[in-house]
Amino acid sequence: MTIAAKTVLVTGANRGIGRALADEALARGAGRVYAGTRQPLAHPDRRITPLALDVTNPAQIQAAAGQVESLDILINNAGIWLSDDLGDRAMLEEHLAVNFYGTYAVTQAFLPLLTRSKGTIVNNVSLMALAALPLTPAYSVSKAAAFSLTQSLRALLTGRGVRVHAVLTGPVDTDMTRGLDIPKASPQPVARAIFDGVEKGEEDIFPDPMSASLADGWRDGVAKAFERQNAAFAQAALAQAEGDRS
Ligand SMILES: NC(=O)c1ccc[n+]([C@@H]2O[C@H](COP(=O)([O-])OP(=O)(O)OC[C@H]3O[C@@H](n4cnc5c(N)ncnc54)[C@H](OP(=O)(O)O)[C@@H]3O)[C@@H](O)[C@H]2O)c1
Repeated sequence: MTIAAKTVLVTGANRGIGRALADEALARGAGRVYAGTRQPLAHPDRRITPLALDVTNPAQIQAAAGQVESLDILINNAGIWLSDDLGDRAMLEEHLAVNFYGTYAVTQAFLPLLTRSKGTIVNNVSLMALAALPLTPAYSVSKAAAFSLTQSLRALLTGRGVRVHAVLTGPVDTDMTRGLDIPKASPQPVARAIFDGVEKGEEDIFPDPMSASLADGWRDGVAKAFERQNAAFAQAALAQAEGDRS
């Protein structure tokens, strides 16, 4: 699969990794890029179509889905990251609303178009889905939930020809990590690595030096093997149930 001539939608496309993903899609010859943002966006490339899209706003999600005629690649990138200590339930709810339910709601809204195109879903998750950072536990919970959602969608949508990728991103130099004094990758190479992973058909994409150091261990590990086992079991059970009905 290549990005050239494809129609791509990126949520949270106005800054950070989302902005770099939109620009990288253009650089790879995408025919049209829908840039989902909460604020009006001006972009010099006429292939960019701005889309008002707060991923926590069901009416806006439906309106956005109504404006898009066809879609090949949905990139669920919008996210929030706030420090907490699990002392405030509202922090959990706020992170889940954007990072988990936002990803779920946008995916559901665009699924008919993605099914029609036999398209691709890319969920920008986080390495913290695999191991919580207890300085941001609510964020980690929401990303673990988004990763689990990604795994189930992957298995459930394979029969419809829709591919589902998880991006297990490490630290990237954006507004989100401002003030964190740790090595960070730049958004542009991260965006390139994400599209490289999509084009190569990698289920789980590790797009920066820190995450890449974990890639082989993850892909050859027991958790990945168990995911595949569960997916095969579910697909067999669903096929059997379908056969019993017909
Ligand atoms: N930076 C990292 O180190 C890192 C590491 C792992 C994973 N990630 C993930 O990568 C994604 C992008 O992160 P980033 O580093 O580029 O962050 P960022 O610079 O803070 O940008 C976040 C983007 O998400 C948008 N957004 C936030 N809430 C939204 C909502 N309710 N509806 C729609 N858009 C919303 C923001 O829009 P506004 O401008 O309107 O706020 C902004 O465009 C996130 O999912 C993040 O969790 C980042």
